[in-house]
Amino acid sequence: MNQKASTRQETQPLSGYRGDAGYFRFEERTEFDPELVLDVLRGRRLGVIFRGVIPAKAQRAITDRFWASPARRHRPGEPSHYVGSYHWNKSVETYLAESEAVRVDVENVLDVPDSPWASFRDGVSTALARHGATLRVARMHGTSAGPALIRAWTGAGAFSLAPHDDAAQCKDPRQAGFEIQRTLEHEVCAVNMCVEHEQGGRLVIWNIRPDDPSRDELGLRDTGFGYPADVLAGFDEIRLDIRQGDVYVFNGAHVHAVDATEGNRTNVSCLIGFTDDRTVVTWT
Ligand SMILES: [Fe+2]
Repeated sequence: MNQKASTRQETQPLSGYRGDAGYFRFEERTEFDPELVLDVLRGRRLGVIFRGVIPAKAQRAITDRFWASPARRHRPGEPSHYVGSYHWNKSVETYLAESEAVRVDVENVLDVPDSPWASFRDGVSTALARHGATLRVARMHGTSAGPALIRAWTGAGAFSLAPHDDAAQCKDPRQAGFEIQRTLEHEVCAVNMCVEHEQGGRLVIWNIRPDDPSRDELGLRDTGFGYPADVLAGFDEIRLDIRQGDVYVFNGAHVHAVDATEGNRTNVSCLIGFTDDRTVVTWT
């Protein structure tokens, strides 16, 4: 694999979309502005970070409930603890069943006074309403996706979350007919709300949205997970400091990662995108 990747770099670099300098940057604000989130959802900018917008008491409450949750899981060999469900690399039936099974536990973590999850949704819903559009959790056959995934990255090494993209997983044929696949015709974006953060753990994002031929070459077509460092070396990258209380949204089709983390880095997260001009859905 290593040999294949290094040979490949010399002969065929990762191909795909690269944004211009005006696009490939993070807008930074100290107050939440949902119109900037809509810009990201429409592909007009790479990302936006709202610094320190989660009230300290809400950060603490979510963090405490997360670590105390009876539904918190830790897979051996994987550097994360989590409460919630994720659709990556599984059938839609499995994902929806897992979402249903853990829904009450996720809601218990999120349902704190001044919940950033509720504030974000209210703000984005209000902004979308001005444009005649709505925000809701994705669904299929009467079952809803997960409202959020709460995760703590605890990995050692250069990356606590390896380089990956969030769009490939939306092509999984085992999820055919799931409405999130229509977000690929618009933008697939990631929302993160940082409630606990010690040191390190920057968001790293590269100026490349790989295309299918590139993913095929690397064997990542439907997972988008595990881009080798050498195929990313030639692309511009942003390393964004993340602090407790920050909320950030970015275009998840760009390869991104979390770099070395010390201590806990706990986020409330979901994916988000337009399925048509009037509908924005979220999933996990
Ligand atoms: Fe991601």
